[in-house]
Amino acid sequence: MKTQVGIIGGGPSGLLLSQILHLKGIQSVVLEQKSRDYVLGRIRAGVLEQGLADMLRSAGVGDRMDREGHLHGGFDIAHEGQRMRIDLSGLTGGKSVMVYGQTEVTLDLYNARDEMGGIVVDNAQNVMPHNLKAGTPYVTYEKEGVSHRLECDFIAGCDGFHGVSRQSIPETVRQEYEKVYPFGWLGVLSETPPVSDELIYNHSDRGFALCSMRNKSLSRYYVQCDIDEDVENWSDDRFWEELKSRLPTETAAQLITGPSIEKSIAPLRSFVSEPLRYGRLFLAGDAGHIVPPTGAKGLNLAASDIYYLSEAFIQYYTEQNETRLNEYSQTALKRIWKAMRFSWWMTTLLHRFPENSDFDARIQKAELDYLFNSEVARKALAENYVGLPY
Ligand code: FAD
Ligand code: DHB
Repeated sequence: MKTQVGIIGGGPSGLLLSQILHLKGIQSVVLEQKSRDYVLGRIRAGVLEQGLADMLRSAGVGDRMDREGHLHGGFDIAHEGQRMRIDLSGLTGGKSVMVYGQTEVTLDLYNARDEMGGIVVDNAQNVMPHNLKAGTPYVTYEKEGVSHRLECDFIAGCDGFHGVSRQSIPETVRQEYEKVYPFGWLGVLSETPPVSDELIYNHSDRGFALCSMRNKSLSRYYVQCDIDEDVENWSDDRFWEELKSRLPTETAAQLITGPSIEKSIAPLRSFVSEPLRYGRLFLAGDAGHIVPPTGAKGLNLAASDIYYLSEAFIQYYTEQNETRLNEYSQTALKRIWKAMRFSWWMTTLLHRFPENSDFDARIQKAELDYLFNSEVARKALAENYVGLPY
């Protein structure tokens, strides 16, 4: 098989890239190692920046998001029993975020690819990129025991943190930057009404907690947990008790609990691999970087990579001009590092760090007090949360 852009990974990055390229008449094939049901069963991010929402609309996949998603003009931070609203719209000149699950974004993208006759090969095993420096790259894979070879002009590595693309860049070329946090997030999805109309990020002596949602009858909650915690040790009752203990008393009293329909633990990590290009291979999304989820930036950062990468491919194929391809890594990394900084800062602000000294704890408290009392501080938070410009 032959195509123009071979895309490894059928998560949001790979599917969005394929969809945007298709609309510009550029061919691509997506190779995904898991089944479609598996990919669509993963519960992940829930907050879309305006930039991502606009990209989905212009890629023709924004209709259901606009019907079923919810625009949020603010969120709360709770600390020492007090809740304070971060007025995103007021502080950013009218910007907001869209609450719409990553699972739904992925489903909309799969449906659009199917309707347009896009090729997405699922259950592709042993996917391997080759000949990255030679100008004639190709990808080999197996499907149902049969070996295949996909020839292409370029390969987009959109296969997430554990994928094969980043590993195909020689170690001597790769520079990796990493910070692993000493805790994880235990997340629960439940068919209960959200405790509040907007998200609440909670700092408490027992650790961080987040109250989020998918819609009026579907809630998503997270509590900070030990890094080696086993999800089996968390009954629903234990989860709800722990969550309540971390919320302001009045908020806890309003919480409606119910059986969980999904429960999982995610580790927290900051990670960047540089450069994002090696010959004819380009990394995008989690394949090249990971942020801790506190700033809701993972999916949004994947989208800004795809914005830069799709523009670069479009310039190459319509103008025979490689300038943007040559600049891709540098351009994307500038925005990535700003989101790294913000996600690290919000994580540091709101979590309980087991190794923290009394001094560190006082600094954290001062930082929260500053935020509660300074509009300038809240403005900086809001500007980053709604998303820096592309
Ligand atoms: P992925 O979504 O990881 O997609 C990569 C795809 O490539 C997958 O479908 C995978 O099966 C496939 N693949 C992997 N290896 C291969 C291979 N060798 N061959 C072919 N295909 C392959 N972000 C937030 O903002 N908020 C959150 O609450 C949040 N929670 C998260 C929870 C978890 C457990 C994880 C892992 C991530 C979470 N994120 C969150 C981050 C966000 O979901 C990611 O940033 C986003 O999914 C990135 O999209 P992607 O397409 O780049 O990568
Ligand atoms: C959600 C996840 C996040 O990491 C976040 O910062 C906000 C919301 C969510 O899953 O709803």
